[in-house]
Amino acid sequence: DDGGGGSGSGSDISTISEGTLTVCSDIPYEPFEYEDGGGYTGFDMDLMAAIAKGLDLELEVKDVGFDGLQSGASLAAGQCDIGASAMTITEEREANIDFSEPYYDSKQTLLVPSDSDIQSIDDLSGTKVGVQQGTTGKLYAEENAPDDAELVSFPSDAELYQAIKSGSIDAILQDLPVNLTHTEDGDFQIVEEYDTDESYGFAVKEEGAEALLEGVNEQLAKLKKDGSYDKIYNKYFST
Ligand code: ARG
Repeated sequence: DDGGGGSGSGSDISTISEGTLTVCSDIPYEPFEYEDGGGYTGFDMDLMAAIAKGLDLELEVKDVGFDGLQSGASLAAGQCDIGASAMTITEEREANIDFSEPYYDSKQTLLVPSDSDIQSIDDLSGTKVGVQQGTTGKLYAEENAPDDAELVSFPSDAELYQAIKSGSIDAILQDLPVNLTHTEDGDFQIVEEYDTDESYGFAVKEEGAEALLEGVNEQLAKLKKDGSYDKIYNKYFST
């Protein structure tokens, strides 16, 4: 019997707003975080809601820029208690952020219009490649695209996908599940996948969030054990 309370009670966890877990995310990033009928939904949002509930905390979500979130600035500034933003656990980020246990495995992909001649990363020579500011996709493009590919950085994914629709960029380097949602109407396709071995983690500030991080990890383990994680997973990812 795990009691359903005990370690889950929010009493030993201090949050910036008492009794509330304030979550920073960068929206939209479907299927992880996006707007749906006025509220925020997605894999990260459902996991955060379940974790907050398990910690006896209310949930508040703030839409902030990804770049400041991944650098640790938003967390250090006390904008929120935790970041849930499909954020890849990287060594570089670990200098400024503490990550939860990994909760999702991902990789990079190349998305192009279905009628494009671009079939591989080498074909990006002389083209405009869209990426999101501060992301691992941007890093991958910087390191692997041909030198004469022009990288165009967008602060948010809304603008990034708008740009490929309007034809102002030729391709997008972005995480697999996110690019995948943009292939659904047939206008775009993924032509290459890159095994970057990425795992997402929830992010807290480097110091002073130890109790919260422990609580989050406990809840995550509990959700995995009792089937709730799988249920949420299956809601957003088929097969
Ligand atoms: N996984 C990638 C990274 O960590 C992209 C995450 C972007 N997330 C977002 N909500 N916009 O860099």
